Amino acid sequence: MRTRIPLMAGAVLAAGAVVPAALVPGLAQSRPPYLDPSLPAQARAADLLSRMTLEEKVGQMTQVNATRLMGSGEWDRGPINERWLETAFGEFAVGSVLSGGGAAPVPNTPEGWASFTNALQRANLERSRLKIPLVYGTDAVHGHNNVAGATIFPHNLGLAASFDPRLAEALAASTARAMRATGVRWNFAPVADLGRDPRWGRFYETFGEDPLLASSLVAASVRGLQGPSLSRGVAATVKHFLGYGQAPGGTDRADALIPARALRELHLPPFAAGLAAGAATIMANSGSVNGMPVHASRALLTGLLRDELGFRGVTVSDWEDILKLQTQHRVAASFPDAVERAINAGVDVYMVPNDVGGFSRALVALVRAGRVPLARVDEAVGRVLRLKFELGLFESPFVDASRADALVLNADRDFARRAAARSMTLLKNAGVLPVPRSVRSVLLTGPGADSVRDQMGGWTIGWQGVPDGPERPPATTVLAGLRAALPAGARLRYLPGTDLDAVRAAARAADLTVVVASEGPYAEGQGDSRTIALAADQQRLIQAVGAAGNRTVVVLLAGRPLVLDDATLEASDALLMAYLPGTAGGTAVADVLFGAINPAGRLPFSWPRSVGQLPIPYDRPPAPPGPDPQRDRPLFEFGFGLSYSRFEYGTPTVTPELAPDDAATLEVPVRNAGPAAGDEVVLVFASRDTSRLLRPARQLVAFERLTLRPGESRTVRLPVPIARLAVVPGDVLGDASAAVEPGEYTLSVGGRTARLVVR
Ligand code: BGC
Ligand code: BGC
Repeated sequence: MRTRIPLMAGAVLAAGAVVPAALVPGLAQSRPPYLDPSLPAQARAADLLSRMTLEEKVGQMTQVNATRLMGSGEWDRGPINERWLETAFGEFAVGSVLSGGGAAPVPNTPEGWASFTNALQRANLERSRLKIPLVYGTDAVHGHNNVAGATIFPHNLGLAASFDPRLAEALAASTARAMRATGVRWNFAPVADLGRDPRWGRFYETFGEDPLLASSLVAASVRGLQGPSLSRGVAATVKHFLGYGQAPGGTDRADALIPARALRELHLPPFAAGLAAGAATIMANSGSVNGMPVHASRALLTGLLRDELGFRGVTVSDWEDILKLQTQHRVAASFPDAVERAINAGVDVYMVPNDVGGFSRALVALVRAGRVPLARVDEAVGRVLRLKFELGLFESPFVDASRADALVLNADRDFARRAAARSMTLLKNAGVLPVPRSVRSVLLTGPGADSVRDQMGGWTIGWQGVPDGPERPPATTVLAGLRAALPAGARLRYLPGTDLDAVRAAARAADLTVVVASEGPYAEGQGDSRTIALAADQQRLIQAVGAAGNRTVVVLLAGRPLVLDDATLEASDALLMAYLPGTAGGTAVADVLFGAINPAGRLPFSWPRSVGQLPIPYDRPPAPPGPDPQRDRPLFEFGFGLSYSRFEYGTPTVTPELAPDDAATLEVPVRNAGPAAGDEVVLVFASRDTSRLLRPARQLVAFERLTLRPGESRTVRLPVPIARLAVVPGDVLGDASAAVEPGEYTLSVGGRTARLVVR
């Protein structure tokens, strides 16, 4: 799906735009090497760099928010402001633009986006002395989610519950197609932070608490976004490097205290996996780790990222985070001091996002004063230019806006449905699901039952979720989904749930009541929660329905595990976690309730009984015995999820003796012993009887999702990379390289075990 503006379309390809020199007779010989697409990106970047002024170089390190180019105020989405275009592209030669959540053009349609990115590109190329195209970025974190009318996929947390990297790759590839159609070639995704504390407002943006699961899904997302080569995909960004997921007490961007051992064993692997998959860019963590703001951390941004991991792509700052070194973290006395620290630490591109001139002037002066070496600037700009060459932007800076609507509106709705269906996680079922075809009357209630906003979560059209107004994503709510799936002859009644007496009476008259409880959308610090409790009025609603005496099914639309009162749990005959399922959420929920889909999602996190247990990830070391046996037990374990079928495991076998850089193969027979066809997620955990260091009670080392017909059995073969067992050795201050301890390991799968010896 490559779109390109035909060269004769002078009206579209305005004066000054790049016309490949090869196409202009007589110019081929005098064409500068950087315009020669047959040369490697690295050589083209070096040639171009040698022709640039310092100011032009700093421009390539500057990223401005789209609203700074529109209307007349910081957040005004008015028409493109010609004076600001002149400032950004003429005066400061800015090299990239982003739309932070909500900064969409008007009209917010795919065609509107494509026309907008084309217009900015044209304005830039008209003013760029060396004809350097700009690259446009957005946070397309669950589909091309800023664009009204684009299909919205489940947020990462739900996607993780599918335990299906192939699905994640397909969704990312779909997202990339939609982005490209609108001229957006840089995606600030995937999130590679672990979700270790559900109080954190960004928990749903993560792939959950486990490093292996997150690594697999991050790598798959990078592959899907970037495609076989960047010129056919969009640039992925693994974010936010490093340690952002360990928000203390769940407070976004508060100082994270992370032992070096945990930083390497838990938080680093998803980033390393994303980089190994070829991620073109990485974003720095806005917060601080162990008392050091990451934007000022040379140890992380250069030592670990470049010297150790060998990353060669672009490091972009997060939103305004160089300024925040001065104003929030207070590790710099002035803005120039902050710029000096961040650029010397390793930031290549500053998401300013507003004060273009302030950054440009400060960095130019710092280079002239010798406080930032020119070589550091050249290194950063060389990376940015290489990215632009690899994306093919010099050859194809524009998109065909007339095709954007057709390529984006309602695209891949079947993926959205499949993804939502595969994420659904059934947590409790006291014999009420699937709903029998003989059901006569269903009552539907609860704030999430007919709420597009609630099933989308944050980062959908608006930063804090779908705003009021005409800009909407396509969506099937649970109400619409149940209507469509209802067996012939059954009646569906819907009550919003605000009038408890009315709900009680209706529940008494219905065979079954479905309560769709929800959190409502949020993003970043606005979503931090001290209680993670389901709202009290919703708990009362569930309890009232339960007390009415008929069957009660609770569906949760939420970006985190919600703490539920005992009475709420008792009142629920079935409990279905639907996460933030996106466009097809209502269809997937209905399919699970009526049995068209056999649920097989598994929790990618541990679900606490109470907030006081937090943090309680499954891979914690065992707690010493205490008076309260429940204190250290979550309500639902990581990896938990029920099915309408029953799966039996045979005895696993494993290659018995291995060296640390081998991969073991575990084989285990699995049989669908139940009545329904369905998927089983096979999870393999490793544990040790004794180790030099405190180890988790168990650690996920392999997983695979498979489909089995009733009665069918299959022997599953799972590769177990021994490197996954690596630990960071040393005493309390241990900070050596990770290594696998020789000795005996127990692998457990489906309640059975096998022994493995590492030599
Ligand atoms: C978020 C990033 C995001 C950026 C641009 C920041 O506030 O932390 O994840 O990429 O904004 O929208
Ligand atoms: C952006 C976020 C950013 C926030 C800062 C939003 O519009 O999309 O990424 O963190 O503004 O205020």
